[in-house]
Order: sequence, then structure tokens, then C-alpha cells
Amino acid sequence: MLNITVQKSAVLKQKPADEGKLGFGKLFTDHMFLMDYTAGEGWHDARIVPYAPLPLDPATTVFHYAQEIFEGMKAYRTAEGRVQLFRPECNAARFNDSADRLGMPPIPTEDFVQAVKALVDVERDWVPHSDGASLYIRPFCIATDVGLGVHAAKNYLFVIICSPSGAYYAEGLDPVRIYVEDEYIRAAPGLTGFCKCGGNYAASIKAGEKAEELGFSQVLWLDGVEKKYVEEVGSMNIMFKIDGKIYTAACTGTVLPGVTRRSIIELLKDWGYEVIEGPLAIADVMKAADEGKLEEVFGTGTAAVISPVKELDWEGKAAMIGGGKIGPLTQKLYDTLTGIQWGRLPDTKGWVVPVE
Ligand code: COI
Repeated sequence: MLNITVQKSAVLKQKPADEGKLGFGKLFTDHMFLMDYTAGEGWHDARIVPYAPLPLDPATTVFHYAQEIFEGMKAYRTAEGRVQLFRPECNAARFNDSADRLGMPPIPTEDFVQAVKALVDVERDWVPHSDGASLYIRPFCIATDVGLGVHAAKNYLFVIICSPSGAYYAEGLDPVRIYVEDEYIRAAPGLTGFCKCGGNYAASIKAGEKAEELGFSQVLWLDGVEKKYVEEVGSMNIMFKIDGKIYTAACTGTVLPGVTRRSIIELLKDWGYEVIEGPLAIADVMKAADEGKLEEVFGTGTAAVISPVKELDWEGKAAMIGGGKIGPLTQKLYDTLTGIQWGRLPDTKGWVVPVE
């Protein structure tokens, strides 16, 4: 149990007048959570303070060797005015898996969740009221040693910031076009593909830019060894409905184990779908499209929620999906997941955690 001190900001920011125009991750709330780690002492000085720049020495190791991890979560406001989180303990567990791979200290799950709840409680008024908008929560941790030697730091800073946000993609729930990246790779066995670390995203940016220049929303990554099997999209996991069955890459070290991904798999299995977590060759996806068997494709993610895909382009060939429209299963998954998150549907699985 953390002892969290709270220092309220003397001046509060103006809340956004039009929640329909929030975009994603552009505005930040009045406060942030900070906690320090010192080797030998552990985590200490948990505090909520006014949102402000972090003063860091230019030789701070995170700037040089990218010892950094993060999480993405949301707080939702129900029609009755309750504020709730979605499976925050899953984010805490993944955070600690990322920490372990990057040689960083873990944070006990209950402390991680307590910190998120405490900050959201202080920022309660920032949780949007409109449909589809929520308070995006970004916990992250950086190495704060000063010096240029490459080794695990002895000092870290854990930070949580919040951003009232709408849809991640400008398209909203309109289907997106995805470019299958066949030059660069995102992950390979033994590397950090399963972690949420800034370095993974840094390495993905060039491919994302190329895809955007070509008119696509994101890239679909293939496996890093053979460049043959589908893995994930830049900011979400991806699932394919082929001939009635759902296929998605297994989380065997190179794919981010998404909280939305696992929730969707649970829902699909409850509904009687066969879900195959394993290697799926991009050539087989394109073949299924040619044969009229590629019924639906959608991404899953905290930021992306459920994001329908209308086109996949690979080696100059295009697979068109669902006549450019969201498929019925994708829509049902979106409605069910967001129904639970926003409290419109009963939470029969115990996924929702109230912020009281
Ligand atoms: C999320 O879905 O929360 C993410 O962190 C993806 C992203 C915006 C990089």
C-alpha cells in the first residue's frame, strides 16, 4: 500500500469545450503521479503533483539508451456518472513483464493500480462525458541515472499522466487501410516485441511514415525471421475472420500481449467461435481474400478499441475486405466491449474496476 501525498494545482486548466474534437493524446490534465526508485531503498515518495515538465540532466540514461517502458489504459464515465477502469491489473502485470525484460524494477500490482486510481480520482472531472471519449492514462517509467555507461540504472522515475481523448484514428470507427510492411521488421525472437517499450515504437516510425505517405493508416508487421507470418499493427493487435474462424498471432515473445486482445478472445470463445492463436501466413490471408473467404479484419487495442480494416496491401496486391464497411462481428465486438467499458452492459466477467 502506497502512502501517496497530494499537492493540488493552484490554477486549474480550462476543460475542453467540445469533447467531439479531443483527438488522441493532445491535451493533458492538471496533475501527474510521480514515484522514485533508488536501488537499496526501493520505490519511495509516491506523490500527486501539478502537471509540469520533468527537469532531467542531459546525461540522464533514458535519453541515450532508452531504458523506458509504458502502459496505455483508460478511465470511462458511465451514464450514471461512475468512473471506472478496465482490467487495470492486466496492465500492471504487463508493465512488470516489460520491466523485467528491460532490467527495470517491478511495481507491485496493487501499488500500480492504487496509483492509477488515486490520480484518476483527483482528475475525475477530466473524464469525458460524451460517447466514445474517455480519459486515456499513460503510466511510464524511465531510468534516471546520470552518466553514459551502458548498464541497468540504479534510479528510476515512475510517472502517470492523463489525457482526455477521443478515437485514436482520424477515421473513428470507419474502416482503415493497412500497408503490409515487407522491408523493415518490428520484432524477432529474443528481442523486446512483447514489451511496451518506447524503443519498439521508435523502430516502427519510419515504416509508419512511409505507409502514411502512401495513404495508409498503419503498417501490419510480419514476423522478423521469415517475413511471412502476420504479427501486429503499429498500435494494435490484429485478428482475421476467415471462413468463420478467427485467427490471430500467438503471444510467443514477438507480439504485444494486448489487454483488449485477450478480452476479445474471451468474448469470441464465449460466443462459440473457434479462435486460432498461431502462425498465419500473409500469403494465406491474401489467398482467402481472393477466394472470398476473408470475411472481416479488425485491430484491437486500448487506444484503437476495435478498429475495422477495409484493405490490406502486400507486395503491390490489395485485399479488399467487407466492401469497405465494418463487418457484423467487428461491430458486435465493438458494441459489447465498449458497452462493458462504459457501463451500458453488465460486467459479467469482473473486468471493470470502479474508481471510488
Ligand atoms: C494503447 O493502445 O494504449 C497504446 O499504447 C498504443 C499506442 C497509442 C502506442
